Order: sequence, then structure tokens, then C-alpha cells
Amino acid sequence: MTISELQQEILRVKRERGAYILAHVYQGQEILEIADATGDSYALAVQASRAEAERFIMCGVRFMAETVKLLNPNKKVYLANSEAGCPMADGLSYDRLKKAQERYPNAATVCYINTSAEVKTISDVCVTSSSAVEIIRKMPEKEILFVPDCNLGAYVQSQVPEKEFHLISGGCPIHAQITAEDVRAAKALHPKAVLAVHPECQPEVCELADYIGSTTGIMNYAKNCGENEVIIGTEISIVEHLQFERPDKRFYPLSKKLMCHNMKLTTLADVYGCLSGEAEEITLAPEVITTANRCIEKMIELG
Ligand code: 13P
Ligand code: SF4
Repeated sequence: MTISELQQEILRVKRERGAYILAHVYQGQEILEIADATGDSYALAVQASRAEAERFIMCGVRFMAETVKLLNPNKKVYLANSEAGCPMADGLSYDRLKKAQERYPNAATVCYINTSAEVKTISDVCVTSSSAVEIIRKMPEKEILFVPDCNLGAYVQSQVPEKEFHLISGGCPIHAQITAEDVRAAKALHPKAVLAVHPECQPEVCELADYIGSTTGIMNYAKNCGENEVIIGTEISIVEHLQFERPDKRFYPLSKKLMCHNMKLTTLADVYGCLSGEAEEITLAPEVITTANRCIEKMIELG
């Protein structure tokens, strides 16, 4: 069977079973092509709550499928590849957050959406990389415990200097491994290009960028800025997607190290297997759903 034949078969079975496929933009092109909705994790969860379907298949990582379940507790949510986790989300346990909260009892806890449902149950507000600055500015609390990404936390802190931030170690190993030396090497290869980076990168990398923003922000900037060449400082698949959308421009990866292996675990065969009932259904205890939803509702209210 060719890739295109398998895609056609998936589309046929998907219609027959009334399933709705969500794909994060870090997935490969062949997965995005069969998806009903593509976007970042928050956009996918919102799309799911607006869709008519009763069954959702998440092509992404575990915390994304959990977020869809939190926002759609009465619907069935499946993770296309149950091995696909996020090391950043896995690095912050409920107990570790509890200990950090004991150290800073007056701080409001702000958690990045890249966290488990358990961590969300004891967070005050959830944020995404595109909404963090706006939401934290609006919060009445002056003291913020920002978890789990200390690079994103440091970026938000630089944009909201009027508040006191407490950060703990943690973050995205894919973005955090990039150094200022990688930036210099990419700029030497592409001297006319501007640089757009994700705030999950280290501060020394962000300082050298022309634009800092979420994946969606980077894509919009790269497509719409006046420059013809853009170095992309986020997951490498974004370079490919941008090149499909804007063949008239040139996009380069900041580094070939920017590859999230968890995001690349999902295959078309996984999606097909999922449609045939061979996938893990995401289940969360009702009390986890109710308490974790509070911080997500707060994000929607303030965002
Ligand atoms: P955004 O798509 O929200 O920018 O997040 C990046 C990321 O690392 C997702 O896992
Ligand atoms: Fe997690 Fe980073 Fe991969 Fe996103 S890119 S899923 S934050 S490891």
C-alpha cells in the first residue's frame, strides 16, 4: 500500500466511524494531511470542544490528549501512539510541585499547558506560550510560581518585570539544547535571514532573535514578515510546513537537533489501528477533571 492509498483508507474509515482527527503542527506532513484540525495543543482542544464528533484521535503527545479530555469529558479521546509522551510534562510530578508551593506559599501557581492533568489540579492558572504574558499581566497576584519551563518562565518574567517570579528547573530538552553558538553557525550559513525562536529556547538564544513567539506566532511571523529568508528556531517540521505554504520564501532550521522524537512516533499505521479500536483511550478520574478544569477555565477567562 502506498502512503496516499493508506491516507485514503484512513479518510474512508474515519467517515464511517464518525471519528475526528486532531494533529499537532509538529507532526509530519502525511499526518497533517488526514487531520480534521491542526494547530497547537490549546487550539486543538478548543477545536475538539466545537466539533460534533463523539470520538477524537490525538496525533500528538499525552498531555495534549489529556487536555482534550479535560475540555470534553463526555467524549471519547484516544492517543494515536500511547508511547508519545513529553519529557517536559513528565519532569514535573504532583509531589514536586507541592514541594515548590510549600517554598513559596504566597505565590500563585501558573502552569504551562505542557503538564499532566494531576499538576493542573493544583495550579491556579494554565497558560500557553502565546497567552502566558497577557494572562500573567492580568492576574491580581504579584508573586508567581511559574512551572515547569524555566526558559519560558524567564522570557515571561522579562516581559512582566513588575511581578516577582519563582522558577524551578525544567523545560523542553529539544528547544533548551540550542546554544548561542548554534545561532552564530546558522546566521553564518544564512547571512540574509532573520531569526524567529520559541521562548522554550534558552535566554542566550532568545536574545539573538528578531522574533520570539509560540509555534503559531513563529509561523505567522515567518509567512508575513517582509523578509524572504527566515531561520526557524523551533521544532524542525515547522520548516517543512512553512515551505509547503510559502514556496516563494526560504525557511531554514536553526539546528537539525530541533527534532522532537516523541512527536515523530505517530505513524499513519497508528492512526489506522486507532480507527480499528487498537488504541489507548484517555481516562481521567471525575475529581481530576473537575479540579484540573478550574485552571483551564481561568486561562480561557483571562486569555
Ligand atoms: P506551542 O505549539 O504552544 O508553541 O508549544 C510548543 C511545544 O513544544 C509543544 O509541545
Ligand atoms: Fe515536549 Fe518539547 Fe516535544 Fe513539545 S517539543 S512535546 S515540549 S519535548
